[in-house]
Amino acid sequence: MSWFCKPSSVPLWRDEFPVFTAGERYVSRRQFTKFLTLTSFGMLVGNLWILAQSWSRRAPAWPRLRVAEADEIAVGGVKTFSYPTAADPCILVRTGADSYVAYSQKCTHLSCAVYYEKARNRFECPCHQGFFSIADGSVLQGPPRRALPRVALERAGGQLIAIRVEAENA
Ligand code: FES
Repeated sequence: MSWFCKPSSVPLWRDEFPVFTAGERYVSRRQFTKFLTLTSFGMLVGNLWILAQSWSRRAPAWPRLRVAEADEIAVGGVKTFSYPTAADPCILVRTGADSYVAYSQKCTHLSCAVYYEKARNRFECPCHQGFFSIADGSVLQGPPRRALPRVALERAGGQLIAIRVEAENA
């Protein structure tokens, strides 16, 4: 008898590919431990990434920018500037002898530039008649749903310094 003829009822393929249905779902302790370790490691890496993202967003490093000399603007006068980047137009208004407010100049509806309407003492957006309060930037009328972001100012001697953009006033 030659070596390739096997005198058995078991087919040759079953010897070469010993697949048993009972063993298909068997997971060894080693495989299970490996699965748990890899899954835990993946979750750890994911959580560290989320943590790093939230830290980087929570504390933006706001630049300090000299905006104007305090007496450079008359009461009721306006000066525009960009903060925190050149692509962020802002508007500064002197509301009283010793009071100033500054807001982002981008309308929160579709980003048209708002202007200060002195006669009505409010910010107005010419695109769709959106009006904002000068006191806190809140929406008085029109399609905008969010207030204008406020730029916090600091007085240093005779200068007005922009120090950060504050969270939206509801
Ligand atoms: S863009 Fe200002 S109201 Fe629409």
